[in-house]
Amino acid sequence: MQQFISVNDVTNINALVKKALAYKLNPFMDHHLGKGKRIGLLFLNPSLRTRLSTQVAASNLGMEAVVFNVDKEGWALEFEEGAIMSGTTAEHIKDAAPILGQYFDILAIRTFPSLKNRIDDYSEMYITQFIKYAGVPVVSLESATLHPLQSLTDIITIQEEVNIQPEKFAFRKPKVVLTWAPHVKPLPQCVANSFAQWINTWQGASFVITHPQDYELSDQFTRGATIMHNQDAALKDADFVYVKNWSTYNDYGKIYENDPAWMLTNEKMKATNDAKVMHCLPVRRNVELSDEILDGKHSLVTRQAGNRVWAAQTVLSEILSTAK
Ligand code: CP
Repeated sequence: MQQFISVNDVTNINALVKKALAYKLNPFMDHHLGKGKRIGLLFLNPSLRTRLSTQVAASNLGMEAVVFNVDKEGWALEFEEGAIMSGTTAEHIKDAAPILGQYFDILAIRTFPSLKNRIDDYSEMYITQFIKYAGVPVVSLESATLHPLQSLTDIITIQEEVNIQPEKFAFRKPKVVLTWAPHVKPLPQCVANSFAQWINTWQGASFVITHPQDYELSDQFTRGATIMHNQDAALKDADFVYVKNWSTYNDYGKIYENDPAWMLTNEKMKATNDAKVMHCLPVRRNVELSDEILDGKHSLVTRQAGNRVWAAQTVLSEILSTAK
């Protein structure tokens, strides 16, 4: 693996999932792999899980991880080619990235979208420019449109649960439903885009996306999924319900409605096939997801967040093993 930006960098999802679950059983089995290697984790936006799970993953592989909160501690970076830097940016990425590439064997970066200009955000200029100039393998810690480490984690978590209940899934694929949920502010489409892209590519589940009218995601990611606007109908016989808010894609970056009726409850869960509930976190309790779900028997969210370590460890080990 030369980089990890999207599912397109992966040749065999099931092999990654198998490796991740092996790491979960034996975290230090490849402790030699990262000896003498160093990863730089660059954050232009906040994080809890991504930052810490990737640090733990690197440590499990014997690798040193250095975190740099670029937004708070670094010079304001310019990403635009040919920019006349007379404004607020102080250092161009074409100057900064090659230097970082000399300090580190792998670089990882988190860059959220502006949610102001869809063309700019969906061009993925920040991470593309970073890859262009870094000169070493780059891992996305969430970009403007995708969150691949989260999506790999999500498939690991689904497969782990399928393995725990072999009788339930002996003769069929699980039904996975991605449902929109209310939120107090506009959020990126990254997690939903990425989850859809990975589940569609994986083909290990039947996949339904449900959201209110006007919350369509880009069909470059959802193509292959069944899309429904009636949440109750979509939840019928679901085995996994993935809850996530996203802002509008077409009239970009807006909240049109925040109907609390879209929040998942135990009453709604009665239509499912005793489904497990997933969320990438952080979650707005009793806005996106009710306490009764998060604290109840259906919730997988804590295990899911724990699995972030094994996803990151698998990706880093693939890069360490194969990158030129
Ligand atoms: N799910 C996720 O990416 O969490 P953080 O934003 O805390 O890293």
